[in-house]
Amino acid sequence: MRDEHAQQTPAKQLELISEALQTELSRFSNVQARARAKTLLSEAQKQLQELKDVRTKFLGKKSGVASLKKLIGRLPSEERAAFGQKIQQKEDEFVQAFDKEEALRKSFIETARIESESLDVTIPGRRPRPGHLHPITLMRQRIEDIFVSLGYAVEDDREIETDFYNFDALNIPEGHPARDQQDTFYTTDGFALRSQTSTVQIHAMQRRGAPVRMIAPGRVFRRDTPDPTHNPMFYQVEGLCVDRGITMAHLKGTLAEFVHRLFGPETRTRFRPSYFPFTEPSAEVDYSCFNCGGPGCRICKWSGWIELGGSGMVHPNVLRAANVDPEQFTGFAFGLGIDRTCARIYELDDIRLLFENDVRFLEQFR
Ligand code: DAH
Repeated sequence: MRDEHAQQTPAKQLELISEALQTELSRFSNVQARARAKTLLSEAQKQLQELKDVRTKFLGKKSGVASLKKLIGRLPSEERAAFGQKIQQKEDEFVQAFDKEEALRKSFIETARIESESLDVTIPGRRPRPGHLHPITLMRQRIEDIFVSLGYAVEDDREIETDFYNFDALNIPEGHPARDQQDTFYTTDGFALRSQTSTVQIHAMQRRGAPVRMIAPGRVFRRDTPDPTHNPMFYQVEGLCVDRGITMAHLKGTLAEFVHRLFGPETRTRFRPSYFPFTEPSAEVDYSCFNCGGPGCRICKWSGWIELGGSGMVHPNVLRAANVDPEQFTGFAFGLGIDRTCARIYELDDIRLLFENDVRFLEQFR
């Protein structure tokens, strides 16, 4: 710059510097209008930096203004004061121009930053979708609550079993036809998925001895092809009560009380003679239909009764297998199907729905 202007008088040089500054600053002038949009925040920051550079160029130690100032001393004395004043006045103008442009950008940046960080508290929130318990869990909890209030403990035991617990100890020796009915899934080395929760009777008596009162809800497995009423995996609740002087009357009274609490006090029970290897005598238990109460309806398949499960007086061999003396102790046991009861209560015509995890189905059980 100095070279271009060197031939001119100092006053003319100052004039030219001033013009150059105007041109330089005019590039920044329309930032205000453009920079409103958030995307221009970074541009404003860039310009602020550029303005600093331009300021150094025009007002720094190596600027035209600085070298003109050095000239003052060499001017004829009558021009010196006037030119000195002039250059000072120009310098003040330049400083003001820079200050103004910089201030504009700083305030723009500040506003834009606040805008971009602000929250609109009036926007509706995203509603969390709370989950809920599975219908089988709800059913299990209702059953547990009833038996816990009758003084029963809740046992949670293993699903992988040995033949001893699943069969032998339950009075089902090798070759017994009951083993075929409860064919299950075998793993290696004599282990299998339990086919009934009756296994827990043995574990509980071994652990607690007698007397004992417990229920054991849990999963069981059978080699069944899935259809509307069968699943290879389903839920049972086992019940066991062993003490001195326990009779069939206690069994009947307990299950009658259970259905009263589950379905209402008008519910009746009926015991049909049956056979299970681990009980003697054995009985199937039915309860009067919770929907029609007897005359028959769709839910009870027009019979007035719904099957609850199997039951009976614990076979002496079972007590013996668990080291309980059958001369001193007697007991009753029962086994109920949770999914079956669940399907009845909710009128499901296909039990497989309970395991498909389709939320459209499950959401109905909130
Ligand atoms: N374990 C039997 C089954 O899976 C059900 C059962 C029947 C359990 C009679 C019992 C009982 O405790 O006494 O079919």
